[in-house]
Parts: sequence; structure tokens; C-alpha cells
Amino acid sequence: MSKKKSKVYVTRRILEPALSILSTECKVTLNKTPRPPSREEILKNVAGKAGILCMLTDTIDAEVIDKAGSNLKVISSYSTGFEHIDIREATARGIYVTYTADILAEATADLAFGLILACARNIVSADGYTKNKKWKTAWSPDLMLGYNIHGSTLGIIGLGRIGAAVARRARGFNMKVLYHNRKRNQSLESELRVTYVELDELLAKSDFVSIHTTLNSDSHQLIDKIKLRLMKKTAFLINTARGQVVKEVDLVRTLKRNQIAGAGLDVFETEPLPRSNPLLKLKNVVLLPHIGSATYQTRSKMAEVAARNLLDVLIEKKEPNPKFLVNPQVKNVRPL
Ligand code: DGY
Repeated sequence: MSKKKSKVYVTRRILEPALSILSTECKVTLNKTPRPPSREEILKNVAGKAGILCMLTDTIDAEVIDKAGSNLKVISSYSTGFEHIDIREATARGIYVTYTADILAEATADLAFGLILACARNIVSADGYTKNKKWKTAWSPDLMLGYNIHGSTLGIIGLGRIGAAVARRARGFNMKVLYHNRKRNQSLESELRVTYVELDELLAKSDFVSIHTTLNSDSHQLIDKIKLRLMKKTAFLINTARGQVVKEVDLVRTLKRNQIAGAGLDVFETEPLPRSNPLLKLKNVVLLPHIGSATYQTRSKMAEVAARNLLDVLIEKKEPNPKFLVNPQVKNVRPL
């Protein structure tokens, strides 16, 4: 007699082979549209599911967990952030919560560096200038002047996996690297040749300030007008972490007044960026649509890990790899 397959809800189409692997083992309900499911769709589709494979755009709170019912055993997020999931609620009910942890560190570090280069060397505006046929003089001594990256000072806020990957890249540019973290990490300091400083000192001394902290109660709006005022007039702020780490109205005001040289942003307080957002009108910014991890290799690996994490709990009936498990305390509530 064939065994009944576990039911799972996948909130967006993810890269293969993950979806095929999941479909072989489970009965998959998939949101086939290219947009995130609405709240109503989530509430309807989680009902009776044993697993949910979600994205950072899906809020998985107590109401959703309730709707899923007592069958729900695992919530696997296709992301490195997990602030969209009510971890406490899930843990209390014995639901394993997993994420894709460090899988996207290198891709995101690449993009952070891309933003540093784009901002400092006017790459985006120079491209527009050329394509818009504004290039009339063969060579000019002062056309599109930018700032040196080589030999400059980089300040990293949050020396986790992505911050460390950015620091490694900075060495190739002979940059001096300062960092600030909740906890000082002396072994990484010698490995990466980075210097720990207080946040205010980092802001005052850096030519590029790159944010890599997770979003938590300490980092929420950490960079506000008081902190922005500490930055050099020639410095750039780079954010590939979470929009909420920066108080956006303060950043807009700072950029409008040219109190810093510019900003390279991949994340925003509200995503997608509302059409009325004043950042869209500014010249001294490079804005990207939250694509830090968007490479074929990384997204495919994230999909595979997210699927594997879900199958570990539902099919293999074993604990997921500890590095992908958000709530290890769940093992006491529902041992596998
Ligand atoms: C994440 O996974 O949290 C990133 O922000 C998107 O890839």
C-alpha cells in the first residue's frame, strides 16, 4: 500500500532541482504566480500542511501557524533573515524553523562590493550618460570624477559571515578595514586583519560604511541623523542587509543636503520601493531591488538547502543540520 505523502505549501516557484525533489517526496501546493501570495492566500493554503517553504516576503505569524493546524512540523525559509517568522510561537508548538544561513554570504558580499564600486566611480550615471549620447568630448580631465577605493578605509557594521566576506574582498583593494559588532571577534580580527572600533569612530573614519548586521531590536534604525552626521562628507553608505537598520527619512535628508557623498542601497524600509519614495529622485544614490543573493548558483543552492531542511524533518524524521536550524530548543518540545 502506498504511503500518504506529506502536504507542503511552497509560497513561490524556486529554482530546480529543489522543486522536483520536493514533489517526488511530498504533495506540493505551489504558488505559481510571480508575486508573493496575499495574506488570504497564505491563510487558505497553509491549512492542513505539514510543511511550509516560505520566503522573507511571507509573514508567518501565530495566525498562520494556527490555520496550518497541528500537523505543521516545519517552516523552512528560503532566506538568511527570519524576522518574518514568529520563532517563539513556532518553537512553543514544536515546529522546526530552518533557514539558508551562510549560503548567500559570498553573493551578497560581491554585490556590496559592486555597490562600493558603482558609487565611488559613478558607474551607473556614467553608463546612462554614454547611452543617452551625452558623451561629446573624447576625453576630459574632470569628467565623472569619483573617489579612490584602493587604499581607502572601509567600515563594516556587523562582522558576521557576509561582513567577513566583504572584509576579505577589501584586502584585494588594499583597504584599511574597521569593524563594529555587538561582540568583538578577536580570532577574526587577526585572520582578516580588521580593527575593532566603536560605531561612532567607524562612522567618522570610514570612506565606505557597509552594513551587514541582522535586523534586531538593537540594530533597528541604528543609523539615524545623529550617526549620519558623524560620517565624512566624502563617504558613502552601503546597505545590503535590511532597510530598517537605517532611518530612511534621515538618510534622504542627509543625501539631499550632500552631507555625505552618496549611498548604495539594495534594501529599503518598504519593499518594493514605493513610487513616491524620495530616494528615487536623488542623483547621489544607486538603488537596487533587493538582489544581494540573486545569482543562479546561490539561488539554486538556497532552494536545495531549503528543500533539504524541510525533507529532513518531514521525510527523514531527523534533525536538520544545526547550522540551518533557527530554533534548536524545539528539539525539547518535539524530538524527532
Ligand atoms: C535573505 O535571504 O534574507 C536575503 O535578504 C535575500 O536573499
